[in-house]
Amino acid sequence: MLYISILFSFLLNAVCGEDYNLHGDAGQAYAIEVYLGHPSQKLNVLVDTGSTTLAIATYPRQDNDEYFHFANSTSINDSGKEIQAKYSQGMWLGRLASDFIRFPSLSNLPEVRTDMALITKSHKFFMNGSGWQGLLGLAYLPVGAWGDHLVVESWLDSLDRTLKIPTSFELKLCGAKSPTNATHYGNFRVIDNADETHQSIFRTPILRKRWYEVGVLSIRVLFQKQLNTVDEVGLTKNSQDNDASRDLDIEMCQQLNEEKSIVDSGTTNIRLPDDLFRQVVDKLKNAVLASNILILDEFWYHAEAACWTEPQNWSLPWLAIDLLSEESDHEYFTLELPPQNYMRVVSARNSSSENGTVPEFCYKLGLEAGGKETVLGYTAMEGLQVLFNRSAGWIGWETSNCGPNARITGPYNVTASIRSTCQLIKVVSDGAVSIKAAQWTLCVISIIAAAVLIYLLAPCIKMMLMKPLPSSNQISLSQAALVEPASA
Ligand SMILES: *[C@@H]1O[C@H](CO)[C@@H](O)[C@H](O)[C@H]1NC(C)=O
Ligand SMILES: *[C@@H]1O[C@H](CO)[C@@H](O)[C@H](O)[C@H]1NC(C)=O
Ligand SMILES: *[C@@H]1O[C@H](CO)[C@@H](O)[C@H](O)[C@H]1NC(C)=O
Ligand SMILES: *[C@@H]1O[C@H](CO)[C@@H](O)[C@H](O)[C@H]1NC(C)=O
Ligand SMILES: *[C@@H]1O[C@H](CO)[C@@H](O)[C@H](O)[C@H]1NC(C)=O
Ligand SMILES: *[C@@H]1O[C@H](CO)[C@@H](O)[C@H](O)[C@H]1NC(C)=O
Ligand SMILES: *[C@@H]1O[C@H](CO)[C@@H](O)[C@H](O)[C@H]1NC(C)=O
Ligand SMILES: *[C@@H]1O[C@H](CO)[C@@H](O)[C@H](O)[C@H]1NC(C)=O
Ligand SMILES: *[C@@H]1O[C@H](CO)[C@@H](O)[C@H](O)[C@H]1NC(C)=O
Repeated sequence: MLYISILFSFLLNAVCGEDYNLHGDAGQAYAIEVYLGHPSQKLNVLVDTGSTTLAIATYPRQDNDEYFHFANSTSINDSGKEIQAKYSQGMWLGRLASDFIRFPSLSNLPEVRTDMALITKSHKFFMNGSGWQGLLGLAYLPVGAWGDHLVVESWLDSLDRTLKIPTSFELKLCGAKSPTNATHYGNFRVIDNADETHQSIFRTPILRKRWYEVGVLSIRVLFQKQLNTVDEVGLTKNSQDNDASRDLDIEMCQQLNEEKSIVDSGTTNIRLPDDLFRQVVDKLKNAVLASNILILDEFWYHAEAACWTEPQNWSLPWLAIDLLSEESDHEYFTLELPPQNYMRVVSARNSSSENGTVPEFCYKLGLEAGGKETVLGYTAMEGLQVLFNRSAGWIGWETSNCGPNARITGPYNVTASIRSTCQLIKVVSDGAVSIKAAQWTLCVISIIAAAVLIYLLAPCIKMMLMKPLPSSNQISLSQAALVEPASA
């Protein structure tokens, strides 16, 4: 009897649970379950395209007593060598080790031995009460953790070495489960390169194999989204013309790529250079004002949450992000993101007040100012399927069957060479990429105790709440590193 019920629950899992293997609390990126060591220990790690090293906690933390008991693993190979990482807002200290890793949700993948950092000490790295115990870095070797004369191989490189073929991986991030549940979900899978790529995929080249560095050409606010007739404000010329030929705003694309533009699943928001952030947010703010909703500046410019007593149906402008196309230097395509992407649900719950429980739905802006950097955090990936072809050096974008109904349009032709007009860095070959990562820091997690503001203008319901949300709901886990430029 017991046997049958175990078998039954196993089958049930196989049928219902297989589709989505990524989960996370609002604002906390997406985590996957892994089995580490022998006998295997079950842990959750964030999938992070903004870093490279598998790093795992080896001690209990506040609010989370799960960690890797490495001494219990008979297969651990602890080098004892120290890996130290300084972060812009914290740090972790650890030791280089290797052990076996396996993904219960990816039964097609073999178990492989991989390098990892056993984190022994950290500061502001783990989030309070977060459901994950480590990080699975998916980027290239140059942004891997670094120690004295040590190179730390990534899990993906170990996998490719074991399989003796290069693999690709795909992230399908779906965002919040439902309007009343802010938990988000998605799917991660590793794809054999022999599998056929879909026809409908839009590919952007990886300009440099360190982070996933791509050419982000512009970010625009699309008003009154109606099929292809869009009234664009985004300094785009020729907006009246047929879609097939639009010139780019050269100043904007140079600004976006001045330092680098990366695709980073370990960061929550879309991060833009300061000036552009201001321009884009001003436009969104005015559009919201025009639709008779007042949301305070704290929401727009200071990452605070706005809450309502019911889930919001946003009829706001869409965001367009133009990416360089892999097919031609005169071609780009556009990610079109609905307001559901950038008005991020950070909590959906019943909160108790004097008068009993009141439902409360809070949102945060999915955009932030990033100095000179551009980061397409997972806010820009939700509702899309993103294929990272590591060996060939491109990222493919497709629409997805879950999450916000984001779209992709194009390709669009321009007359000038995009790489040269936008001053995109040259593609460097694998061999030329220096792995002498001289110094690096991680830009981690900003824990923001948020104040809550609600405003609805008459004739709608008027109500205002001011209170902090219980936990941080934003994360940023890309290695904001100073990697030695390749001296090809
Ligand atoms: C690790 O081993 C210790 C003692 O050998 C045991 O008490 C503990 O439960 C084990 N922990 C795990 C997670 O297996
Ligand atoms: C442990 O790792 C070191 C260096 O990576 C290697 O030389 C050694 O053979 C490994 N030991 C085992 C038991 O795998
Ligand atoms: C972490 O959470 C606990 C309880 O939920 C709280 O008491 C503590 O202040 C929090 N710490 C930080 C740094 O937010
Ligand atoms: C939200 O969904 C998750 C996953 O299905 C579930 O565990 C959690 O209890 C739900 N939360 C609420 C408040 O319903
Ligand atoms: C990755 O790119 C290579 C070379 O273009 C191609 O052969 C392979 O099929 C691609 N992999 C996937 C999964 O699309
Ligand atoms: C874009 O240019 C290519 C040749 O460079 C041409 O084959 C293609 O038809 C053009 N596409 C559009 C939509 O004009
Ligand atoms: C939100 O939009 C959906 C579909 O457009 C509609 O069914 C629903 O009633 C709307 N909800 C509110 C509160 O307006
Ligand atoms: C809030 O409470 C109502 C009724 O008490 C319940 O139907 C609803 O599911 C609750 N919502 C959440 C997010 O817990
Ligand atoms: C509680 O109810 C009273 C009377 O119904 C009302 O005046 C008051 O504003 C309510 N308080 C809150 C926080 O909703």
